[in-house]
Amino acid sequence: MGALLQRGYGGVETLAVGRAPVPALRPGHVLVRVAAASPDSGTIHLMTGRPTIVRPFLGLRTPRQPIPGLAFAGVVEAVGEGVEGFAVGDAVAGSAPGAFAERVVARATKLARIPEGVTMTDAAAQPISAVTALQAVRDVARVEAGQRVLVIGAGGGVGSALVQLAVLAGARVTGVASAAKAAFVRSLGAERTIDYRATPEPADWGRFDVVIDTADGRGLSVLRQALAPRGALVIVGADHAGGPVLDGLDRQFRAALLNPFVRHRLAMVMQRESGADLAVVLEHLASGRMRSAVSEVAPVADALAAIARLQRREVAGKVVVDLTGLAALAG
Ligand SMILES: NC(=O)c1ccc[n+]([C@@H]2O[C@H](COP(=O)([O-])OP(=O)(O)OC[C@H]3O[C@@H](n4cnc5c(N)ncnc54)[C@H](OP(=O)(O)O)[C@@H]3O)[C@@H](O)[C@H]2O)c1
Repeated sequence: MGALLQRGYGGVETLAVGRAPVPALRPGHVLVRVAAASPDSGTIHLMTGRPTIVRPFLGLRTPRQPIPGLAFAGVVEAVGEGVEGFAVGDAVAGSAPGAFAERVVARATKLARIPEGVTMTDAAAQPISAVTALQAVRDVARVEAGQRVLVIGAGGGVGSALVQLAVLAGARVTGVASAAKAAFVRSLGAERTIDYRATPEPADWGRFDVVIDTADGRGLSVLRQALAPRGALVIVGADHAGGPVLDGLDRQFRAALLNPFVRHRLAMVMQRESGADLAVVLEHLASGRMRSAVSEVAPVADALAAIARLQRREVAGKVVVDLTGLAALAG
């Protein structure tokens, strides 16, 4: 089959279209013909091999999984032993390693059926970013109606879903984003945006019941200056927040360790790839309560340029790659 292949760790120059064997179907899994896949910061982490602490798990010099990508949408082609709830021909979205390929094998528990009215490209954008946002808002931050919520990185993949889900929960949302993404963030329901370059100090952003950080990367004590006395600081992540080994991961663990000793609630998000949570997000899209936040659908010939734009943080919300034509491109 045609696939995007990764030769080593680095930038998009490590990626090229090539051919790979069709992955074998296993019990509890489903074989999907992929229509669209969406890169996210996880795709970038796997491409760059950062933080380096994860390399023993990914492959020391080259990734053990040579096909990048996690989030996808497509049509079920075969169903493995013991799988219930999915049938050949179903339109599904989900997550599995190796999504940038004509076919992918995914664990059935990480899949959800795409409801009527939701496109393949919109569905492909949801499995990692929006599911992370749902778990952050509902399970970790436990956002309630009337709360003041600050989303840092509101113009990004996770942030664009955080803003919408917090608004849906009844919160009044402020988004921190670059000036270029301010109008986009307001279009998602944020009542106010803060340009982090014009107003760099969290102490000047206001006081919030909940602060969710997907981008700032500053120390916990600095971010806590934007919290109300009993507020909650929720760390999703931030790229290049530390050295190459941990890349800011230590901040998440520090939040959990420090939590019992401070008056604020400090918590981290550890995303679980969940078909059930993905189904919740897809239903929000189908009913119009949420929109997909896809600002760009790139043809497969432009996949590398799209991933490079995401790495340079130029993408507002999500970019999706339409994989129609991958077979022809792979030859
Ligand atoms: N904990 C978990 O389980 C989990 C799951 C998924 C993702 N993550 C992490 O969450 C982070 C965000 O992921 P993502 O996929 O949403 O990335 P993304 O799509 O690249 O979005 C990040 C956004 O942050 C903005 N930004 C950069 N610096 C900023 C700053 N100082 N203040 C405010 N905004 C800033 C960028 O745009 P502008 O600069 O133009 O505003 C960009 O839109 C990553 O670090 C990722 O590893 C963690």
